[in-house]
Amino acid sequence: MRKILLLCLLAALGPASLAAPVTPERMLQAETNGDHWLSHGRTWSEQRFSPLDQIKDGNAAELGLAWYFETNTKLGLETTPLVIDGVLYFTGAWSTAWALDAKTGELLWKHDPEVPREASIKACCGVVNRGMAAWGNRLFLGTIDGRLIALDRDTGEQLWSQQTTDPNEPYSITGAPRAAKGLVFIGNGGSEFGTRGYVSAYDAETGLLVWRFHTIPGNPADGFENEAMAMAAETWNGEWWKYGGGGTVWDSIVYDAELDQLYIGVGNGAPHNRRIRSPGGGDNLFLTSIVALDPDSGEYLWHYQQVPGEAWDYTATQQMILAEIPWEGQPRKVILQAPKAGFVYVVDRENGELLSAEPFTTVTWASHYDMETGRPVEVEGQDYDGEPAWVYPSPIGGHNWHPMAWSPDTGLLYIPELDMGMLFDEILPVDYKHLKRHFNTGYDISSDAQSSQRFTQAMLKHLPKAHLLAWDPVKQAPAWKLPHPNIHNGGVLATAGNLVFQGTSDGRFIAVRADDGEVLWTFPTQTSTMAGPVTYRVDGEQYVAVAVGRGGALNMAMGKGFPVGNPNNRIMAFKLGGNATLPPMPVVEVPPPPPRMEATDKELQRGRELFNRYCSRCHGADAVGDGSIPDMRRLDPVWHENFEAILLEGLMEKAGMPRFDDVLDKQDVRNIHAWIIERAHEDQALREESGWLASIRQKATDTIARATAWLIRVTTE
Ligand code: HEC
Repeated sequence: MRKILLLCLLAALGPASLAAPVTPERMLQAETNGDHWLSHGRTWSEQRFSPLDQIKDGNAAELGLAWYFETNTKLGLETTPLVIDGVLYFTGAWSTAWALDAKTGELLWKHDPEVPREASIKACCGVVNRGMAAWGNRLFLGTIDGRLIALDRDTGEQLWSQQTTDPNEPYSITGAPRAAKGLVFIGNGGSEFGTRGYVSAYDAETGLLVWRFHTIPGNPADGFENEAMAMAAETWNGEWWKYGGGGTVWDSIVYDAELDQLYIGVGNGAPHNRRIRSPGGGDNLFLTSIVALDPDSGEYLWHYQQVPGEAWDYTATQQMILAEIPWEGQPRKVILQAPKAGFVYVVDRENGELLSAEPFTTVTWASHYDMETGRPVEVEGQDYDGEPAWVYPSPIGGHNWHPMAWSPDTGLLYIPELDMGMLFDEILPVDYKHLKRHFNTGYDISSDAQSSQRFTQAMLKHLPKAHLLAWDPVKQAPAWKLPHPNIHNGGVLATAGNLVFQGTSDGRFIAVRADDGEVLWTFPTQTSTMAGPVTYRVDGEQYVAVAVGRGGALNMAMGKGFPVGNPNNRIMAFKLGGNATLPPMPVVEVPPPPPRMEATDKELQRGRELFNRYCSRCHGADAVGDGSIPDMRRLDPVWHENFEAILLEGLMEKAGMPRFDDVLDKQDVRNIHAWIIERAHEDQALREESGWLASIRQKATDTIARATAWLIRVTTE
């Protein structure tokens, strides 16, 4: 009787009041209990594998939409939700957090940390957020402006907030914090804008800083923070600290409960061109490395550097999966990683020894790894020294942040792979100018018509491809490959139901049989997905949920897919027999373009160059928007009227549109404007000619050619 009363009481209070603390015991139990999704990669081992098997290959065809939740914004959605005790917590644009009833999608609370919109310029790849950490009864959230915030899990109220970065420096946080041992670990981003990477640990209870580990040395004249930095400084030359140097820990941080170690994935060098960053060479530790730290003190334990002296924006920040695999007849505790450089690395997590490095996509920068030394053998000419070089993978990587998954059942890694190269055209060190707040790469693509043409031709010769790739790390070979029609597809979830789930950039959410890659079920999501799905169980029913929405570096820059009528970002949850439906696609009226401005061909060309240099990373290469940020070819008259004030006076700064008076003058703005209007007329002609869908198709090829114009994040005139 008492028990029934208690149950009634709990039911009446609703799911939020059932919150039980996230403890070390609970975290460990989660490895075999699939009811919850307690951490960014589900559990500490970050396998994104769920033992739930109610939804399985035999019944996946019966999946349907259970509910959806609208976020009322189109700005990118990269979140992996947490699901704890029947509540789904997720993050979105401007570092906002939401809590939903995981069974119904009903809103329980929302927390907006009110990020100053001026901070948008610091977000290289959209004002996105990839998720939260949970510890005790708290959630932890990183913000675009560099704060780490503790929230009450029941109410969403802020308990403490710490500024983890110097607000005057171009740091941002988009990655999910991780929690273990009463500590919250957080990194940051901003390499190309001129930052020096580090990771920090805060006390979950008090919010006080416990330790900080820098990933690259600072100016030796200031002294080194620790022995690891003194050691790393031996591998650098020149005055790298003036450019920040890079090495940001912007995504992957993993706690290994078996070995009590913390692994951080360190980012690329900045600028990417190593002859500018570190003239005279050097490995540049700990760029593009997995570094193991003591979780309590932040002390250096070991590292494995994947790309010594990296020169292509290759990062080791991609997801690290902790697994145990059979290796030469013995079980071996390993880290599995398939980062930007295009190799699957299998690293012994006791000591950082490289066990295997095999390419999972087209790779041209290195021929192979020397297994004696664990070092790559670089291919001559690929470091674009003196001659432009076409290099695979591109700076976007053979696989980026979109989470992969590992199934201990099939022994396969499921990787959202991207088979894409890029032309690197060096900016000579003497011509290099460092511009804080803007992209600093040290190479150029199309600052003039000639190099632009060279780039387009090279790109057309090597059209990018993308696959869902199943990789066997023991055989060191692919098991199967599912080709996708578009590039930049979403993250992956694997389950004990012999299933792999993925959202695609062409607007589908699919269930694939894990052992052979057969597509078993497809749901049209109306727009693209970037994020990784999750699964959980409430009241005996298994759900699969995913954050659906565009944005992110490649979408924003490439602007292909769903350029018009893009719905707002949504969380969608699916279950067997689900029968909810999405509302119809929004209908959008495209305003007619204003009359052309008077401008010479030279001025228009200049406008294009400046646009691709400063604007394309958000508004799309050659002004083809992705639907998450306004498409410049389809502006309402009011924006044309206020164009100069938006650019030079910061009229729209409060909406996340940065001001550019540090790099542009009135004539520059006029040139950009004249060229945008020209593009609007071209766009209108194209639409009138052939209709929407045809025009998208027609544009697809040359959009790809322009795709990497977002990489025209050059630094010199
Ligand atoms: C860091 C990302 C970012 C960059 C870089 C950027 N913009 Fe924007 N811009 C935005 C966002 C976000 C908005 C939308 C604000 C809103 O409407 O909510 C916007 C809006 C605008 C608008 C107003 C249109 C509208 O519908 O709101 C114009 C005009 C504009 N941008 C032009 C430019 C130009 C020209 C450049 C390059 C010099 C540029 N932007 C660079 C993010 C960016």
